[in-house]
Amino acid sequence: QLSLLIDTDPGVDDALAILMAHAHADVLGLTIAAGNVGLGHTVRNARTLVDLVGKATPVFPGCPTPLVRMPEEDAVHVHGTDGLGDVGFPEPKSVAAEEHAVHALIRLTREHPDLTLVALGPLTNLALAVRLDPTLPQRVKRLVIMGGAVTGLGNTGKIPAEFNIGFDPEAAHVVFEAFPRFDLVDWEVVLRHAFDDEEFNGWIAAGDRRATFFEQVFGTARAFNAKRGRRGVIAADALAMAVAIDPAIVTRAEERHVAVEMDGRLTRGATVVDWTARLGHPANARIVMAVDQARFGAMVCRALGA
Ligand code: BDR
Ligand code: CA
Repeated sequence: QLSLLIDTDPGVDDALAILMAHAHADVLGLTIAAGNVGLGHTVRNARTLVDLVGKATPVFPGCPTPLVRMPEEDAVHVHGTDGLGDVGFPEPKSVAAEEHAVHALIRLTREHPDLTLVALGPLTNLALAVRLDPTLPQRVKRLVIMGGAVTGLGNTGKIPAEFNIGFDPEAAHVVFEAFPRFDLVDWEVVLRHAFDDEEFNGWIAAGDRRATFFEQVFGTARAFNAKRGRRGVIAADALAMAVAIDPAIVTRAEERHVAVEMDGRLTRGATVVDWTARLGHPANARIVMAVDQARFGAMVCRALGA
């Protein structure tokens, strides 16, 4: 059985990814980042999700701020002020672990050499873990990152930057330099793999309590996307999770060197891909360009109990 360790800032699409993970794999823990909303909310949301799946998955609170500069934006307008659509869930029963996310990343990668690490938020915790323990990347069999916009079609105020990378570019830089190879699920491939609204509504109607939950939390994001003129259900973190659970779902990928812009008046947080291989750096990323949409859908379906 596949073992997953998930660094995440839940977050509506993080929530779907976490449901998917529990439906398909052993989840060793959730290490929690700040990002979509503040750390207090992301930790609490993770606990709400652990209650929902009915497992004893530990939740490790991580860093409350990026490594260097305070973030220029959050994602409250997409995920709601509490990060889960402002539904007003009761206080979760599960409690957060005492251990810090950064220490948990170091410890769990020591104890489980075969785990797959999935990063669904800003990379602050993972960057610090790598700085504390530079041998960590050698111990991770596979790292899947949701982040970046490989041709510059980002989703933040800095046009070419995607949210997770743009929130903490220095952390992304540390991680991209430290790991010899990772799978990158960027915002652009996410947009190419949105679900048809009607199909998705059918899964919600057929699903169990997890589907009801997702329908509730998804309201804010759905309204935001509609306002932006985006059609369909965009599920960034769920796509990264699908790639983590089943690598064979990837139908096209590009192996390239990817770096992170840390300066730049207009470009801070951009992912810079050496498409023409001019720099001579070995590829660090397997950029996911396309997946089998039907298989991705089947995985989401199962996560919703449909
Ligand atoms: C990413 O940013 C967050 O808002 C989502 O949860 C996802 O991880 C998409 O850019
Ligand atoms: Ca996220």
